[in-house]
Amino acid sequence: MGSSVRSEPPVLAGSLPPAAATLLSVAPMMDRTDRHFRYLLRLLAPDLRLYTEMITAHALVQGDAVRHLAYDESEHPVALQLGGNDPEVLAQAARTGAEHGYDEINLNIGCPSDRVATGNFGACLMDRPEVVAACVTEIRNNVDIPVSVKTRCGIDDHDSYEFVAEFMTEVAAAGCELFILHARKAILAGLSPEENRTIPPLRYPLVYKLARDFPGLRIVLNGGVRSSREVREHLLYTDGVMIGRQAYSDPYWMCKLQEGFLNPAAGREWTAPDRNQIVEQMAEYAEKVLAEGARLHHITRHMLGLYAGQPGARAWRRFLSESVTGKDAGPDVLLESLRL
Ligand SMILES: Cc1cc2nc3c(=O)[nH]c(=O)nc-3n(C[C@H](O)[C@H](O)[C@H](O)COP(=O)(O)O)c2cc1C
Repeated sequence: MGSSVRSEPPVLAGSLPPAAATLLSVAPMMDRTDRHFRYLLRLLAPDLRLYTEMITAHALVQGDAVRHLAYDESEHPVALQLGGNDPEVLAQAARTGAEHGYDEINLNIGCPSDRVATGNFGACLMDRPEVVAACVTEIRNNVDIPVSVKTRCGIDDHDSYEFVAEFMTEVAAAGCELFILHARKAILAGLSPEENRTIPPLRYPLVYKLARDFPGLRIVLNGGVRSSREVREHLLYTDGVMIGRQAYSDPYWMCKLQEGFLNPAAGREWTAPDRNQIVEQMAEYAEKVLAEGARLHHITRHMLGLYAGQPGARAWRRFLSESVTGKDAGPDVLLESLRL
């Protein structure tokens, strides 16, 4: 990291831990970054910052918080991502998250889905920075952990540098110290969430410029990052990189990121377990959570990319997919899979 041209941002009050813990993260992804996948990721990289799937503040406040917020202690540092636009409800949800031991509250101002836009939260709130600022203020008044915002590089025709910079200025003034910028704008009418992750072009230079112009904030770049070379490049200009889809399809890459970037930053000498050891550790984990009512499939579905690019990967995936369907499938399936 010695070659970084980005100066170290000041440490703010009530603040994030040192850079090592925040530098690289895996993106919040609905139906993917549940506790089982996060457990796998933690085995693969001790210093990676992890994010939950988005949960709406209302669902958390009115629903079964204990179930929604359950996680394994090994997952720290782990951030809770919330969706919503009501400062009071968000603050209550954030307080519950903090009481459960989460390390950061992240507000989702980037989701372009219709369902979310109908509820008037997600990416459409980029047009209402005063609402986002009110939410951040109220959350900060209620929790001692850092509050971050994950957002986009604009929405619809509001995609200029000035638009994003003004949004960030107002939200930062309310106490947000970490911005995760998906380097695409969101197009709210006409594109599905999936298309919104591929069609709007990536604008890395815009994120670099924001990182340069806001030296007092931590700026994490997200969107389309698929290789260690790209991570290295982005870290020259930003404080961190968040990885989504590639972390899911090739989770073992996280070991390389730990060894190449996070080990040196944290002063750690950690060596990656091999893939078979990871499977054994996941079998132990499965034994524990199956006893609590989970199904093996809930765990193994997140492991299918573990051998990505390795000989025999396809046969392993097939074996795993076919062997976990029974209600009684147990951790021995994982151990058996190693014979392949
Ligand atoms: C299946 C899936 C679910 C997602 N769910 C969320 C979510 O709950 N909250 C959120 O902020 N972003 C969500 N995203 C967006 C990702 O966090 C990330 O911003 C996006 O995938 C771009 O990063 P990538 O190119 O590295 O995948 C989701 C993405 C995918 C593929």
